[in-house]
Amino acid sequence: MPSFTPDNELDLLFAPELIPSEVTSQLGSDLHMRPLAKTDLARGHLSVLSVLTSTPNLTEEQYQQAFETLRGCNNTYFTLVIVSKATDSIVGVGTVFLEQKFTRSLGTVGHIEDIAVDERMQGRKLGLRVIQALTGISERVGCYKTILNCSDKNVPFYQKCGFEKKENEMALYH
Ligand code: ACO
Repeated sequence: MPSFTPDNELDLLFAPELIPSEVTSQLGSDLHMRPLAKTDLARGHLSVLSVLTSTPNLTEEQYQQAFETLRGCNNTYFTLVIVSKATDSIVGVGTVFLEQKFTRSLGTVGHIEDIAVDERMQGRKLGLRVIQALTGISERVGCYKTILNCSDKNVPFYQKCGFEKKENEMALYH
């Protein structure tokens, strides 16, 4: 089994200090929350996401290219993961990305996307911690609000995370 890789040995998407310590301190001692790393394909990033939707079979090179695309959009994409220290594998993920507006005095909105917790780890408040960390980051970087879309089934979860239902989602697929 691979041994746990500490943050200082990883190429990370953003500064780990942005993740609120009030949230990380509430994780079990068997778990670690950190920004996404360039080598997280091998730690099961996409397998965890597959509880949410179908995921592609990416090569290491394709994955790392996508990672660099996110990192190249300075101060825009904040994807974080929860890692099991015992297996060095990812058990929870989530992203907040920033939208610069002209309205709201040039305000910024945080959009939460792609929240997923490994089925075997659901019900341990990991989803809640991911959302708390992402909304904490959103607040720290100056967003005036954080929003997300979800299915009816997940509304109670997001309400438990402090969100309220507002407006409607519209979609046009291409
Ligand atoms: N219905 C009602 N309550 C729920 C639900 C639900 N579907 N899911 C969680 N909760 C409650 C829990 O009971 C808990 O309540 P408590 O504080 O009273 O004990 C609270 O919400 C926090 O739950 P967690 O343990 O943090 O939830 P978990 O770690 O299982 O993560 C998640 C929830 C992320 C929805 C997980 O079940 C999952 O990965 N589901 C599949 C993928 C998915 O649907 N992701 C969300 C897509 S929407 C988006 O990405 C913006």
